Amino acid sequence: MSLLDIDGVSVDLGRAPLTRVLDEVSLRLRAGEVVGVVGESGSGKTTLARSILRSVPVAAGSLRIDGRDVRGLRGGTLRAWRREGAVQYVFQDPLRSLDPGVRVVDSIAEGLRIARVPSEERTRRIAAALRDVGLDPELAGRLPGHLSGGQRQRAAIARALVMQPRLLLLDEPVSALDAASRDRIIRTLIALRDAHRERLGMLVISHDIGSLAALSDRLVVLYRGRIVEDGPTRQVVARPRHPYTRLLIASVPVIGVAGADRTERAALRAAIDA
Ligand SMILES: Nc1ncnc2c1ncn2[C@@H]1O[C@H](COP(=O)(O)OP(=O)(O)O)[C@@H](O)[C@H]1O
Ligand SMILES: [Mg+2]
Repeated sequence: MSLLDIDGVSVDLGRAPLTRVLDEVSLRLRAGEVVGVVGESGSGKTTLARSILRSVPVAAGSLRIDGRDVRGLRGGTLRAWRREGAVQYVFQDPLRSLDPGVRVVDSIAEGLRIARVPSEERTRRIAAALRDVGLDPELAGRLPGHLSGGQRQRAAIARALVMQPRLLLLDEPVSALDAASRDRIIRTLIALRDAHRERLGMLVISHDIGSLAALSDRLVVLYRGRIVEDGPTRQVVARPRHPYTRLLIASVPVIGVAGADRTERAALRAAIDA
Protein backbone atom coordinates (compact mmCIF):
# COMPACT_ATOMS: atom_id res chain seq x y z
CA MET A 1 0.00 0.00 0.00
CA SER A 2 1.18 3.52 -0.71
CA LEU A 3 1.97 5.80 2.17
CA LEU A 4 0.73 8.76 0.17
CA ASP A 5 -1.85 8.33 -2.54
CA ILE A 6 -3.01 11.42 -4.38
CA ASP A 7 -5.51 10.93 -7.12
CA GLY A 8 -6.80 13.64 -9.42
CA VAL A 9 -6.35 16.48 -6.94
CA SER A 10 -7.28 19.95 -8.17
CA VAL A 11 -6.90 23.20 -6.24
CA ASP A 12 -8.41 26.58 -7.15
CA LEU A 13 -7.10 29.72 -5.48
CA GLY A 14 -7.42 33.48 -5.60
CA ARG A 15 -10.43 35.74 -6.07
CA ALA A 16 -13.36 34.90 -8.31
CA PRO A 17 -12.86 33.80 -10.98
CA LEU A 18 -10.57 31.36 -9.19
CA THR A 19 -7.34 30.19 -10.79
CA ARG A 20 -6.76 26.47 -11.17
CA VAL A 21 -3.38 26.12 -9.46
CA LEU A 22 -3.29 22.30 -9.41
CA ASP A 23 -5.01 20.38 -12.15
CA GLU A 24 -5.79 16.71 -11.56
CA VAL A 25 -2.52 15.87 -9.89
CA SER A 26 -1.95 12.21 -9.10
CA LEU A 27 1.06 10.73 -7.36
CA ARG A 28 2.05 7.89 -5.08
CA LEU A 29 4.79 7.56 -2.54
CA ARG A 30 5.80 4.50 -0.51
CA ALA A 31 7.52 4.33 2.87
CA GLY A 32 11.27 4.45 2.41
CA GLU A 33 10.91 6.41 -0.79
CA VAL A 34 11.99 9.94 -1.65
CA VAL A 35 9.96 11.58 -4.38
CA GLY A 36 11.30 14.81 -5.81
CA VAL A 37 8.86 17.39 -7.14
CA VAL A 38 10.47 19.78 -9.55
CA GLY A 39 9.08 22.73 -11.46
CA GLU A 40 9.80 26.39 -11.96
CA SER A 41 8.57 29.07 -9.58
CA GLY A 42 4.77 29.33 -9.73
CA SER A 43 4.23 25.80 -11.03
CA GLY A 44 2.25 24.78 -7.93
CA LYS A 45 4.82 22.91 -5.82
CA THR A 46 4.05 24.63 -2.51
CA THR A 47 0.33 24.38 -3.19
CA LEU A 48 0.76 20.63 -3.65
CA ALA A 49 2.42 20.39 -0.22
CA ARG A 50 -0.27 22.58 1.32
CA SER A 51 -3.02 20.43 -0.16
CA ILE A 52 -1.46 17.39 1.52
CA LEU A 53 -1.40 19.33 4.82
CA ARG A 54 -5.04 20.28 4.24
CA SER A 55 -4.15 23.96 4.44
CA VAL A 56 -5.67 24.86 1.08
CA PRO A 57 -9.15 23.83 -0.04
CA VAL A 58 -9.08 20.84 -2.35
CA ALA A 59 -11.66 21.21 -5.13
CA ALA A 60 -11.54 17.67 -6.50
CA GLY A 61 -9.79 14.34 -6.19
CA SER A 62 -8.78 12.09 -3.33
CA LEU A 63 -5.98 12.35 -0.80
CA ARG A 64 -5.03 9.29 1.23
CA ILE A 65 -2.25 8.93 3.76
CA ASP A 66 -1.62 5.44 5.05
CA GLY A 67 -4.93 4.39 3.58
CA ARG A 68 -6.80 7.08 5.46
CA ASP A 69 -8.98 9.56 3.60
CA VAL A 70 -7.44 12.86 4.58
CA ARG A 71 -9.52 15.02 2.27
CA GLY A 72 -12.65 14.11 4.19
CA LEU A 73 -11.31 15.21 7.61
CA ARG A 74 -13.28 18.04 9.22
CA GLY A 75 -13.43 20.00 12.48
CA GLY A 76 -12.23 18.12 15.54
CA THR A 77 -11.04 15.13 13.54
CA LEU A 78 -8.93 17.39 11.34
CA ARG A 79 -7.46 19.11 14.42
CA ALA A 80 -6.66 15.79 16.05
CA TRP A 81 -4.98 14.59 12.85
CA ARG A 82 -2.86 17.77 12.76
CA ARG A 83 -1.85 17.44 16.42
CA GLU A 84 -0.77 13.86 15.87
CA GLY A 85 1.74 15.26 13.35
CA ALA A 86 1.97 12.33 10.92
CA VAL A 87 2.71 14.82 8.14
CA GLN A 88 5.42 17.39 8.79
CA TYR A 89 6.37 20.36 6.67
CA VAL A 90 9.82 21.95 6.49
CA PHE A 91 10.06 25.47 5.08
CA GLN A 92 12.77 26.83 2.81
CA ASP A 93 13.48 29.39 5.52
CA PRO A 94 14.12 27.58 8.84
CA LEU A 95 13.36 30.79 10.75
CA ARG A 96 9.72 30.22 9.90
CA SER A 97 9.69 27.26 12.27
CA LEU A 98 12.31 28.44 14.79
CA ASP A 99 11.33 31.36 16.99
CA PRO A 100 14.33 33.75 17.15
CA GLY A 101 13.75 34.38 20.88
CA VAL A 102 13.49 30.70 21.83
CA ARG A 103 16.34 28.22 22.29
CA VAL A 104 16.48 25.83 19.37
CA VAL A 105 15.92 22.81 21.60
CA ASP A 106 12.69 24.34 22.94
CA SER A 107 11.41 24.93 19.41
CA ILE A 108 12.20 21.31 18.64
CA ALA A 109 10.29 20.24 21.76
CA GLU A 110 7.19 22.35 21.07
CA GLY A 111 5.14 19.78 19.18
CA LEU A 112 5.94 17.14 21.79
CA ARG A 113 4.76 19.43 24.59
CA ILE A 114 1.51 20.14 22.75
CA ALA A 115 1.00 16.40 22.26
CA ARG A 116 1.71 15.96 26.02
CA VAL A 117 4.57 13.55 25.48
CA PRO A 118 6.13 12.82 28.93
CA SER A 119 9.37 14.67 29.63
CA GLU A 120 11.64 11.59 29.66
CA GLU A 121 10.40 10.43 26.29
CA ARG A 122 10.67 14.00 25.04
CA THR A 123 14.34 14.14 25.98
CA ARG A 124 14.99 10.79 24.33
CA ARG A 125 13.22 11.72 21.10
CA ILE A 126 14.95 15.10 20.87
CA ALA A 127 18.37 13.47 21.33
CA ALA A 128 17.56 10.93 18.61
CA ALA A 129 16.36 13.63 16.21
CA LEU A 130 19.48 15.73 16.79
CA ARG A 131 21.61 12.66 16.05
CA ASP A 132 19.58 11.93 12.92
CA VAL A 133 20.18 15.40 11.51
CA GLY A 134 23.75 15.67 12.76
CA LEU A 135 23.25 18.70 14.98
CA ASP A 136 25.48 19.06 18.04
CA PRO A 137 23.26 19.14 21.18
CA GLU A 138 25.39 22.01 22.46
CA LEU A 139 24.25 24.10 19.45
CA ALA A 140 20.64 23.17 20.15
CA GLY A 141 20.95 24.97 23.49
CA ARG A 142 21.50 28.28 21.68
CA LEU A 143 19.18 30.78 20.01
CA PRO A 144 18.68 30.35 16.24
CA GLY A 145 20.65 33.54 15.58
CA HIS A 146 23.79 31.78 16.81
CA LEU A 147 23.52 28.98 14.24
CA SER A 148 24.54 28.96 10.58
CA GLY A 149 21.92 28.60 7.84
CA GLY A 150 22.71 24.91 7.43
CA GLN A 151 22.57 24.27 11.18
CA ARG A 152 19.21 26.05 11.39
CA GLN A 153 17.84 23.91 8.59
CA ARG A 154 19.05 20.81 10.47
CA ALA A 155 17.21 22.10 13.54
CA ALA A 156 14.03 22.66 11.52
CA ILE A 157 14.25 19.10 10.18
CA ALA A 158 14.81 17.79 13.73
CA ARG A 159 11.73 19.69 14.85
CA ALA A 160 9.74 17.81 12.22
CA LEU A 161 11.36 14.44 12.98
CA VAL A 162 10.65 14.41 16.73
CA MET A 163 6.99 14.04 15.82
CA GLN A 164 7.88 10.67 14.23
CA PRO A 165 6.07 11.57 11.03
CA ARG A 166 5.13 9.13 8.30
CA LEU A 167 5.55 11.80 5.68
CA LEU A 168 8.06 14.63 5.58
CA LEU A 169 7.36 17.47 3.13
CA LEU A 170 10.51 19.46 2.45
CA ASP A 171 9.82 22.64 0.47
CA GLU A 172 13.00 23.96 -1.18
CA PRO A 173 15.03 22.78 1.85
CA VAL A 174 18.42 23.71 0.39
CA SER A 175 17.57 26.62 -1.92
CA ALA A 176 18.67 29.29 0.55
CA LEU A 177 21.99 27.59 1.37
CA ASP A 178 25.47 27.88 -0.09
CA ALA A 179 26.70 24.99 -2.23
CA ALA A 180 28.71 23.27 0.52
CA SER A 181 25.90 23.27 3.12
CA ARG A 182 23.49 22.22 0.38
CA ASP A 183 25.50 19.07 -0.32
CA ARG A 184 25.81 18.29 3.36
CA ILE A 185 22.06 18.62 3.95
CA ILE A 186 21.33 16.42 0.94
CA ARG A 187 23.66 13.75 2.34
CA THR A 188 21.87 14.04 5.68
CA LEU A 189 18.50 13.55 4.00
CA ILE A 190 19.78 10.46 2.16
CA ALA A 191 21.01 9.04 5.49
CA LEU A 192 17.62 9.82 7.04
CA ARG A 193 15.80 7.95 4.31
CA ASP A 194 18.05 4.93 4.85
CA ALA A 195 17.72 5.04 8.64
CA HIS A 196 13.90 5.18 8.58
CA ARG A 197 13.12 3.10 5.49
CA GLU A 198 10.40 1.13 7.24
CA ARG A 199 8.34 4.10 8.22
CA LEU A 200 9.15 7.42 6.65
CA GLY A 201 8.48 8.78 3.18
CA MET A 202 9.76 12.11 1.90
CA LEU A 203 8.43 14.51 -0.69
CA VAL A 204 11.17 16.98 -1.56
CA ILE A 205 10.30 20.07 -3.53
CA SER A 206 12.73 22.15 -5.55
CA HIS A 207 12.92 24.37 -8.61
CA ASP A 208 16.37 22.91 -9.17
CA ILE A 209 16.43 19.40 -10.61
CA GLY A 210 20.16 19.24 -9.87
CA SER A 211 19.68 19.26 -6.09
CA LEU A 212 16.89 16.65 -6.34
CA ALA A 213 18.58 14.14 -8.62
CA ALA A 214 21.01 12.77 -6.02
CA LEU A 215 18.36 12.44 -3.34
CA SER A 216 15.20 11.28 -5.10
CA ASP A 217 14.22 7.75 -6.03
CA ARG A 218 11.57 9.19 -8.31
CA LEU A 219 11.04 12.56 -9.93
CA VAL A 220 7.74 14.22 -10.63
CA VAL A 221 7.77 17.25 -12.89
CA LEU A 222 5.13 19.89 -12.34
CA TYR A 223 4.39 22.42 -15.05
CA ARG A 224 1.61 24.99 -14.64
CA GLY A 225 -0.16 22.86 -12.06
CA ARG A 226 0.01 19.63 -14.04
CA ILE A 227 2.28 16.64 -13.75
CA VAL A 228 4.03 16.29 -17.08
CA GLU A 229 6.47 13.57 -16.09
CA ASP A 230 6.76 10.95 -13.34
CA GLY A 231 9.35 8.20 -13.24
CA PRO A 232 12.48 6.76 -11.66
CA THR A 233 15.08 9.53 -11.33
CA ARG A 234 17.62 7.85 -13.55
CA GLN A 235 15.11 7.38 -16.32
CA VAL A 236 13.72 10.91 -16.11
CA VAL A 237 17.21 12.41 -16.20
CA ALA A 238 18.56 10.13 -18.94
CA ARG A 239 15.48 9.95 -21.14
CA PRO A 240 13.13 12.84 -20.34
CA ARG A 241 9.94 12.51 -22.32
CA HIS A 242 8.51 15.97 -21.95
CA PRO A 243 10.23 19.00 -23.50
CA TYR A 244 9.79 20.91 -20.23
CA THR A 245 11.79 18.25 -18.39
CA ARG A 246 14.48 18.46 -21.05
CA LEU A 247 14.58 22.20 -20.49
CA LEU A 248 14.96 21.78 -16.72
CA ILE A 249 17.79 19.29 -17.25
CA ALA A 250 19.46 21.45 -19.88
CA SER A 251 19.70 24.31 -17.38
CA VAL A 252 21.73 22.22 -14.90
CA PRO A 253 25.42 22.24 -15.80
CA VAL A 254 26.26 18.93 -14.14
CA ILE A 255 23.45 16.64 -15.26
CA GLY A 256 22.93 18.52 -18.51
CA VAL A 257 26.36 17.45 -19.84
CA ALA A 258 25.05 16.26 -23.14
CA GLY A 259 22.90 19.27 -22.69
CA ALA A 260 21.58 22.02 -24.67
CA ASP A 261 23.13 25.32 -25.63
CA ARG A 262 21.18 28.55 -25.56
CA THR A 263 19.61 28.08 -28.98
CA GLU A 264 18.40 24.62 -28.09
CA ARG A 265 16.99 25.86 -24.78
CA ALA A 266 15.05 28.55 -26.64
CA ALA A 267 13.73 25.90 -29.04
CA LEU A 268 12.64 23.70 -26.13
CA ARG A 269 10.92 26.63 -24.48
CA ALA A 270 9.05 27.38 -27.73
CA ALA A 271 8.02 23.71 -28.03
CA ILE A 272 6.61 23.72 -24.48
CA ASP A 273 4.59 26.87 -24.92
CA ALA A 274 3.27 25.86 -28.33
N1 LIG B 1 -3.35 31.94 -1.83
C1 LIG B 1 -3.25 32.11 -3.15
N2 LIG B 1 -4.13 32.84 -3.83
C2 LIG B 1 -4.04 33.02 -5.15
N3 LIG B 1 -3.09 32.46 -5.92
C3 LIG B 1 -2.17 31.72 -5.31
C4 LIG B 1 -2.17 31.50 -3.89
N4 LIG B 1 -1.12 30.72 -3.57
C5 LIG B 1 -0.50 30.47 -4.74
N5 LIG B 1 -1.11 31.06 -5.78
C6 LIG B 1 -0.72 30.98 -7.18
O1 LIG B 1 -0.60 29.62 -7.53
C7 LIG B 1 0.51 29.38 -8.37
C8 LIG B 1 1.41 28.34 -7.77
O2 LIG B 1 1.99 28.84 -6.58
P1 LIG B 1 2.94 27.95 -5.68
O3 LIG B 1 2.26 26.70 -5.32
O4 LIG B 1 3.42 28.81 -4.57
O5 LIG B 1 4.12 27.64 -6.71
P2 LIG B 1 5.63 27.19 -6.44
O6 LIG B 1 5.76 26.73 -5.04
O7 LIG B 1 5.87 26.11 -7.45
O8 LIG B 1 6.48 28.39 -6.73
C9 LIG B 1 1.18 30.73 -8.57
O9 LIG B 1 0.74 31.26 -9.79
C10 LIG B 1 0.66 31.55 -7.42
O10 LIG B 1 0.60 32.92 -7.77
MG1 LIG C 1 7.03 27.28 -3.49
